[in-house]
Amino acid sequence: MTVAAIVPAAGRGERLGLGRPKALAVVGGQTLVARAVDGLIEGGVDVVVVAAPPGDEDAVREALDHRRATVVTGADDRVGSVAAALDMLPATTEVVVVHDAARCLCPPAVVRAVVEAVRSGHRAVVPATAVADTLKRTGPGGQVTATVDRSGLAAVQTPQGFAAATLRAAHEQARVRRGAGEPVAATDDAGLAEDIGVTVVTVPGDPRAFKVTTPLDLAMAEALVTAGPA
Ligand code: CTP
Ligand code: MG
Repeated sequence: MTVAAIVPAAGRGERLGLGRPKALAVVGGQTLVARAVDGLIEGGVDVVVVAAPPGDEDAVREALDHRRATVVTGADDRVGSVAAALDMLPATTEVVVVHDAARCLCPPAVVRAVVEAVRSGHRAVVPATAVADTLKRTGPGGQVTATVDRSGLAAVQTPQGFAAATLRAAHEQARVRRGAGEPVAATDDAGLAEDIGVTVVTVPGDPRAFKVTTPLDLAMAEALVTAGPA
């Protein structure tokens, strides 16, 4: 059974603000994309396809060096980048995980747990963690209109795992809906699977699978790498 990974790495990293794609930012001497790919391979993935920012394909290939990964051209948004990589997966692929390059310190154990849950028969699996902050609903002027009951809420990370046919069907529906001018609100691949009626299950996530989004996140990643394995 082939386990493949798709790594969306085609974002521009506007919030990080380095003036170059976030996937090429460096933590502890290694790019985010290289770290993400290493974690996936250590987690037992056989095939990796990385979606690179258009125009930066060669830079991503260079960052990946000798790693067993194929680089494809990404798209304007994450859904499109994942779809481009999905087209490149070998036909033998039975399990696919989609993992943000930006979650570069995700422990391989999380990858294994997600893959295992798909292998055991779940069609869509996401790592989830508890929400730490109190959540409020706010109105247009910023005033609080309600406190959201936190029980039953989870913060969801990547890698998100799918039976290959499920991920393909989910992206196909998103493509058709977009083609028809319908909005696709889902912000992750599990959301697209939910849209076609698939039940998504959770496995325990890990704080180290946090997404590098801002300069503070990059500093946190650097500190974690310097501190060594936890
Ligand atoms: N991504 C992608 N293609 C896009 C946009 C995002 O492959 N068109 C990827 C990013 O490279 C990242 C992941 O999706 O690994 C999560 O996106 P995000 O954290 O928003 O990254 P960026 O879009 O690069 O950051 P920003 O929104 O601050 O520009
Ligand atoms: Mg983005």
